[in-house]
Amino acid sequence: MSNLDPITRPARFLRLIEVAGNLSSTLDLDVLLNRIVHTAADLTGAQEASILLYDENNEELYFQAATNMDSGLMRGLIVPVDGSIAGKIVRERRAERISNVSDEPQHFGEVGETTEVKTISLLGIPMITQDKVIGVLEAINKQVGEFTQEDQEVLSALGSQAAIAIVNARLFQQSDLIAELVHELRTPLASLNTAAHLSMRPEISEEQRMQMAETIFKETQRLSEMTTAFLDIARLESGRYQFRVEEIDLVVLLKEAVNTMQSRLEERNIQVGLDLPDSLPKVQGDYDKLKQVLLNLISNAIKYNRPSGTIHISSQVDGKTINIQIRDTGHGILPEHRRELFQKFYRVPGSDQHATGTGLGLSICKKIVEAHGGQIELDSEVSVGTLVTVSLPVSG
Ligand SMILES: Nc1ncnc2c1ncn2[C@@H]1O[C@H](COP(=O)(O)OP(=O)(O)OP(=O)(O)O)[C@@H](O)[C@H]1O
Ligand SMILES: [Mg+2]
Repeated sequence: MSNLDPITRPARFLRLIEVAGNLSSTLDLDVLLNRIVHTAADLTGAQEASILLYDENNEELYFQAATNMDSGLMRGLIVPVDGSIAGKIVRERRAERISNVSDEPQHFGEVGETTEVKTISLLGIPMITQDKVIGVLEAINKQVGEFTQEDQEVLSALGSQAAIAIVNARLFQQSDLIAELVHELRTPLASLNTAAHLSMRPEISEEQRMQMAETIFKETQRLSEMTTAFLDIARLESGRYQFRVEEIDLVVLLKEAVNTMQSRLEERNIQVGLDLPDSLPKVQGDYDKLKQVLLNLISNAIKYNRPSGTIHISSQVDGKTINIQIRDTGHGILPEHRRELFQKFYRVPGSDQHATGTGLGLSICKKIVEAHGGQIELDSEVSVGTLVTVSLPVSG
């Protein structure tokens, strides 16, 4: 259905009923939010629609989804409760219908600046469930005429359905994450417990005691890495992570990432070949997060390489995408283990013999790359090596 078609009243309510069933059928928060904003724009005949979620602890609204948001980079953008129309909607728990926002002193322009869509008219409703405001659903720029009372009713009805679905999806996401974390903490905790227990036995030798102390040291280190990485994932998954977006020169970024890893490369006697053009088109993204992706990938290429192996890093432009390739001469990964590589905590059986790790590196990489509108792929041949390709869209 096109946004320009006038939708009759019964047709709209029929559509709402259809959507309501649809909303509760997914527990994937991203998919759900996307469906809601598209339906909101469709049903109200608006140019765009967006969702801001409300964090009552910090009294902040943060941007979560919009019809005109094709990459995930805008997620997490904070909109102040004081000094925004959305904030007013939360505070007063009432819809706002405005024909021209420039007449409103409360209009917060930053979102418009980031999305390059100028807001003229606006219809916003509070999303309330169990007497709590969980966010704001906004439709902007009515395509024909002005937002009507009926638009407001339809959007409110959609908002109530959406609120319930969002709360459900969030609960599910949290319980899922916590269950996974608890599960993964069990193994290192069990070996810590055993080592600590044994080291107290009077009959063990000094040498054995030292060995146990070493196990305790390594396992606590791993636990601490795991919690840091896990927090990273949880932040990325919750959509609360705020990307700092700028124009990035990948040549600079790639060289810097290799420099950062220099001492680890020397330690393992691994040579790196960098094969980069003099310049690459810029990409829009978060410099530190993209650097984290490269560091993770280079770290894998070091950890799972053979002694005195090599790493080859190259980059090419292919139309509107830039491909970055990291190739190593490691032992490779069997096809049956490749499918699960990007899952949280997954490590190929036997990886412990090569290197320590949490199994979170690749899943963090995937989340970051996808938030940038890109893709990550892995190809591997046993005994030959592994090739990871990251593709990112060219800016503009
Ligand atoms: N370049 C590679 N060559 C061979 N195996 C790899 C390579 N990269 C990843 N793997 C395999 O994929 C698994 C998952 O990688 P990932 O980076 O997610 O976790 P990790 O390296 O085990 O831990 P972390 O990155 O958190 O330290 C690794 O345990 C390893 O078995
Ligand atoms: Mg890793």
